[in-house]
Amino acid sequence: MVEKVGLGVTIHKPGDEVFGMLRYPSGAGSHAEYVVAPARTFVFKPPEIDHVQAAALPLAGLTAWQALVDTAQVKHGQRVLIHAAAGGVGHLAVQIAKHMGAHVIGTASAAKHEFLRGLGIDEVIDYREPPVPTHHHSTDELRSTTA
Ligand SMILES: NC(=O)c1ccc[n+]([C@@H]2O[C@H](COP(=O)([O-])OP(=O)(O)OC[C@H]3O[C@@H](n4cnc5c(N)ncnc54)[C@H](OP(=O)(O)O)[C@@H]3O)[C@@H](O)[C@H]2O)c1
Repeated sequence: MVEKVGLGVTIHKPGDEVFGMLRYPSGAGSHAEYVVAPARTFVFKPPEIDHVQAAALPLAGLTAWQALVDTAQVKHGQRVLIHAAAGGVGHLAVQIAKHMGAHVIGTASAAKHEFLRGLGIDEVIDYREPPVPTHHHSTDELRSTTA
C-alpha cells in the first residue's frame, strides 16, 4: 500500500495497492515494514490476487520474461520447450510463451500435468519416464522405424 509519494509522482497516490521488486542485492530492505523506492519500481496489484501472491511474482516472472521475450524473442507459431514447466519460473514461462502465440511443450512430473493443461500448455512430457526408444538402435533400425 502506498503511504506517501514524492514530489512529481503521478502514477501512484496514497492508498494505492501496489507490488514490485526493489533493486538488489544491496539495500533492498524487502523485509521492512516501509520502504522508499522510485515510483516505477511498483505497479498496481490486480484485485484478484492478494499481497502474498503478488509478492511471489516479480523475480520469478522477470526471470521467465527475460528468457523468453528479451533474449529468445519468442514469436507467434514457434515451438518452445520449457523444462521444469510446473515450477515457480516454469509455470509463468508457460503462460508468457502462450501469450506470445507459441506452441508450448513442457517437462514436468505426471502429477503436475493437469495443472499445466489448465494453463493452456500444448504438450507435456514426464521427465521421470525413460526416453523412447529405451535401447540403442543401429542406424539401419532407426532408418526403418522413421521411414
Ligand atoms: N524462482 C526464481 O525467481 C528464479 C530466478 C532466477 C533463476 N532461477 C532458477 O530457475 C530454476 C527453476 O527455479 P524455480 O524457482 O522455478 O524452481 P522450483 O519452483 O523449485 O521448481 C523446480 C521444478 O523442477 C522440476 N524438475 C526437477 N528435476 C527435473 C528434471 N530432471 N527435468 C525437468 N524438470 C525437473 C520439478 O518439476 P516437478 O514438480 O514437475 O517434478 C519442479 O517443479 C532454478 O535453477 C533456479 O535457480 C529461479
